[in-house]
Amino acid sequence: MNKAHLEFLASPQWAQILETDLLPWLIGAADLGDDVLEIGPGPGLTTDLLRRRTSRLTAVEYDRHLATALAARLAGTNVDVIHADGTDAGLASNRFSAATCFSMLHHMSSAATQDRLFAEVYRILRPGGSVHRDRLDRLAGDP
Ligand SMILES: C[S@@+](CC[C@H](N)C(=O)[O-])C[C@H]1O[C@@H](n2cnc3c(N)ncnc32)[C@H](O)[C@@H]1O
Repeated sequence: MNKAHLEFLASPQWAQILETDLLPWLIGAADLGDDVLEIGPGPGLTTDLLRRRTSRLTAVEYDRHLATALAARLAGTNVDVIHADGTDAGLASNRFSAATCFSMLHHMSSAATQDRLFAEVYRILRPGGSVHRDRLDRLAGDP
């Protein structure tokens, strides 16, 4: 991500878009349940929104600086921040009630890495768990 993109993802404007666009869609989707995984939280404005809708949230962020800053900001809350690659974060199998990724899939280098992420998400979800990605995100191969 370049500097301008990162600044936007931490801005009040992005927080407002998430409230008015992502949040209603999320509320209309299945209940997230009690133990949610977020992959690629970045500066964490999506994390702020998600953590109001579950009792426990784990956020896995690949970028060390972003992970460290988010862990410091959300220390003592219902969020655990892990600095790791979402394809291999060492999480337990069959644990999570839902997995989410917002505006991050297009940051992965190839369809193969996206497939690895989906395989990992399938492994860590409980039976009946749900997956949520936003309509702004893209899969490799999308037009
Ligand atoms: C565009 S930002 C989106 C941030 C946030 N979800 C939002 O919508 O405001 C994408 C984030 O995904 C992270 N990311 C990319 N690939 C990742 C991976 N394999 N595992 C974990 N995080 C990843 C990037 O470091 C970046 O912080």
